[in-house]
Amino acid sequence: MLTALDSFRTTLGEFASRFSMRAERPVGHTGRTQVLVTGAGGTIGRILTGALSDEYAVHGLDAKAGPGVQWARDMAKLRRAEGVFEGMDAVIDLAADASVSASWKSVRQNNIPATLNAFEAARKAGVRRVIFASSNHVVGMYERDEPYASVVAGAYDGLDPVALHRLGADVAIRPDGPYGVGKAFGEAAARYYAEMYGLSVICLRIGTVNAANRPTNTRQFATLLTHRDLVHLVRCCLAAPESVRFGVFYGVSANTWRFWDIDDARETIGYRPQDDAERWRS
Ligand SMILES: NC(=O)c1ccc[n+]([C@@H]2O[C@H](COP(=O)([O-])OP(=O)(O)OC[C@H]3O[C@@H](n4cnc5c(N)ncnc54)[C@H](O)[C@@H]3O)[C@@H](O)[C@H]2O)c1
Repeated sequence: MLTALDSFRTTLGEFASRFSMRAERPVGHTGRTQVLVTGAGGTIGRILTGALSDEYAVHGLDAKAGPGVQWARDMAKLRRAEGVFEGMDAVIDLAADASVSASWKSVRQNNIPATLNAFEAARKAGVRRVIFASSNHVVGMYERDEPYASVVAGAYDGLDPVALHRLGADVAIRPDGPYGVGKAFGEAAARYYAEMYGLSVICLRIGTVNAANRPTNTRQFATLLTHRDLVHLVRCCLAAPESVRFGVFYGVSANTWRFWDIDDARETIGYRPQDDAERWRS
């Protein structure tokens, strides 16, 4: 007869195996951890789908067909997209109008529904972890204040980067436009899905990831996230223990002039960026 203790052990075992992100399990055709990338056809999506395929079975979804996109689906339409989430262990949710100057209409009609649908589809499909591409623009208005205004303008006189007060992920949100408001909505929805439904969600307030993989203006000496550090950061998120139920971390390289705090990312998920944008300073 199954005792109460046996039943407790069984439940614990199921829980442990469900949340061990690296656990081998017979899912999909390869038996590897199944990772869905939404927005797979974009800049970050292409970097991640290429780099993560060594360790994970990576599947790409995007509104537009193209290389690395297995499913052409609009994330703003839940019924069209949700079936793709079945059998996935983790989701990297990138699908959005990624323009900082995205209009309210685009954020209302595309970004917010696409984000919400990613959480809802992940919940329904029993996905273990969602990594949500948030943005530094959730806190963009701090850049109008000193000393950050001077840093992004490259007016470093009188500033000591070591003494710079870095913004933690726990500062009050100060979105700098519709795009940032949409990402703030995503972080709020992430927390709700984590606390209400037990979905593990890590939100990354990404700095600047560009095709050039180097600073292309003065601000980016502070905000750059190199491709190498991006891939490492996402690997950290995928491998983080199940005890990480919800987190918000900045995605920035170890830039001398960065003004976002990454100590919590180092402590919680082991993020150790290797690059500093200063190497491109001429
Ligand atoms: N690149 C950066 O510096 C940066 C910084 C902060 C946050 N982010 C966020 O990271 C994510 C990826 O950024 P990116 O630079 O690769 O952008 P990108 O524009 O290159 O790629 C976004 C992709 O999402 C797809 N997409 C948009 N709406 C969709 C929908 N409704 N359904 C399915 N696919 C959809 C687009 O077709 C595109 O391929 C975005 O959410 C963006 O807001 C990027």
